[in-house]
Amino acid sequence: MKVFPVTQKVQSEMEGLSIYVLTIFPGLFEQFLRYGIVKRAIEKDLVSIIVVNIRDVAYDKHKTVDDTPYGGGAGMVMKPDILAASLKSTLPFREHRQPRVILLTPQGKRFNQSWANKLSLFNEIILICGRYRAIDERFRQLYVTDELSIGDYVLSGGEYASMVVIDAIIRLIPGVLNDFESGIEDSFQNGLLDCPWYTKPEMFEGLRVPDVLLSGNHADIKKWRQEQSVKNTRLRRPDLLKNGSDEVNE
Ligand code: ADE
Repeated sequence: MKVFPVTQKVQSEMEGLSIYVLTIFPGLFEQFLRYGIVKRAIEKDLVSIIVVNIRDVAYDKHKTVDDTPYGGGAGMVMKPDILAASLKSTLPFREHRQPRVILLTPQGKRFNQSWANKLSLFNEIILICGRYRAIDERFRQLYVTDELSIGDYVLSGGEYASMVVIDAIIRLIPGVLNDFESGIEDSFQNGLLDCPWYTKPEMFEGLRVPDVLLSGNHADIKKWRQEQSVKNTRLRRPDLLKNGSDEVNE
């Protein structure tokens, strides 16, 4: 198993969330782990991200992880034995024997802020990044507990989707953001989009900052922001107001 140097801690040494990512392209995560909120969360020991190269458990000399589909058809299918072996290779590092095993796939339930909230409360999750045409159905049936999609489009693999999921989760872990408020006040946390924000200068290319924000009246400012949030949501995402679609869709 390949573990990146930045994430060498094993679960038993960890207080916070451990995220295992199974992928055939571990290199894609190198930069992702080195910047911004993700880097800070790792450095503060609030999260541990262990990137596992699925190919490490391949047993033939070509390090094969996929094969042609039974019944024919275009594309390749990820082998169930390889995926299962890769998953089991994380066992010595894990505390939980039955963690959430999440497959990133366009067939999954739509990932949203409620899912991010829910996943941020676990202390161990495993993300499986599918590649090729599909993963073998038997691995899905036997090992996968949840399937998540980040939107109705097809990516070349689950890697970018898992980065999206990881980023959204990490910023919700208390202590990760300097000001935890800014995490809980993010767009979607209350089912609404965010309000507009302004900084200096007061006048920019003929546009002035709204008077209320310069008034110093915090009650008025709070009220204005709330109204703007509702207005923004009604204009851009009326579906959020109608059906409360930010639920965890189970
Ligand atoms: N893998 C490929 N496309 C995806 C998507 N839309 N969401 C999650 N994983 C994916």
